Amino acid sequence: MGLQSGRPVVLDVDTGVDDALALLLAVNSPDLDLRGVTCVAGNTGLEPVVQNTLRVLDVAGAPLDLPVAAGARRPLLDPPHIAEPAATQTAEHVHGADGLADLGLPESTRPLDRRPAVQLLRDLLLGSDTPVTLVPLAPMTNIALLLRTYPEVQEKIERIVLMGGAVNGGNVTAAAEFNVFADPEAAAVVFGADVPITMYGLDVFYSVRVSETEATAMAASDVPSARLAGQLLLFRMNGELGSAEIGDAGAVAAVIAPDGLTTEALPVRVELEGRYTRGCTVVDRRAESDKDWDPHRGFPAPVLDVALGVDAIRYAKLFVETVS
Ligand code: BDR
Ligand code: CA
Repeated sequence: MGLQSGRPVVLDVDTGVDDALALLLAVNSPDLDLRGVTCVAGNTGLEPVVQNTLRVLDVAGAPLDLPVAAGARRPLLDPPHIAEPAATQTAEHVHGADGLADLGLPESTRPLDRRPAVQLLRDLLLGSDTPVTLVPLAPMTNIALLLRTYPEVQEKIERIVLMGGAVNGGNVTAAAEFNVFADPEAAAVVFGADVPITMYGLDVFYSVRVSETEATAMAASDVPSARLAGQLLLFRMNGELGSAEIGDAGAVAAVIAPDGLTTEALPVRVELEGRYTRGCTVVDRRAESDKDWDPHRGFPAPVLDVALGVDAIRYAKLFVETVS
């Protein structure tokens, strides 16, 4: 660390197949200087998330002094409308029983930083000479706690590029995307930060894809990062489409090549109450002149740079070439 000249970044992850792809890209990219990784419960519980993260960093050949810290194991509030939170708040059905495609990667002996995630984030940000890009790829509990505990860090955040939310419909429910649904209050806190934010949501998340042929070739590679990426992509392969999405790794690509993303500055609110809409990101695409009669106009929403389109071919190529 410190020898790299790329853009300083910190990833917050719930590894997770596509978080693993994001880590492989971030470690291998010459355009990024990965300063640390923080973990949060999400796709699976906190302990497996930490183990998965350390194992992926081993495969990626990340430096042993790259700090990795554990954070929140539960959202700020327990969901009010769900009978069995434990059964519905994680996503092993998408990521495998161990949260990492059940590949049986060897256990990691890489040390875990003793600091709680919030403390590590604070130290990394305040200790940095230049502002850092924060990349939350998971429920935003750690980042909300950071912003409420140490609001002074905002001056050291260049931008938050987050995977979360959607303009047009959800995945975990009809209305909500998983990372926001898992901790809507945290997302609302993060969206309100005094920092530029890019929302890399579902409208672009599934578009960046690697073909089955390419994934198969990667899985047979001698390069450990490429091999793991190929195996993970094959686990997520959609037989009908003949391709798999790189998911969270697309948000990392958006930090490396922001001009590959089409964004619009739009007001975004997080729905916190609706029984069937909790966790929905309500993106306001109306013209200003159409807002005159809006009863909420006295309560301005945070304005985020919402990703509406992506150069999917470019990001997929960037991913494959970088991890290979
Ligand atoms: C998000 O949810 C998780 O399952 C993925 O890792 C990604 O961050 C997509 O909704
Ligand atoms: Ca994730």
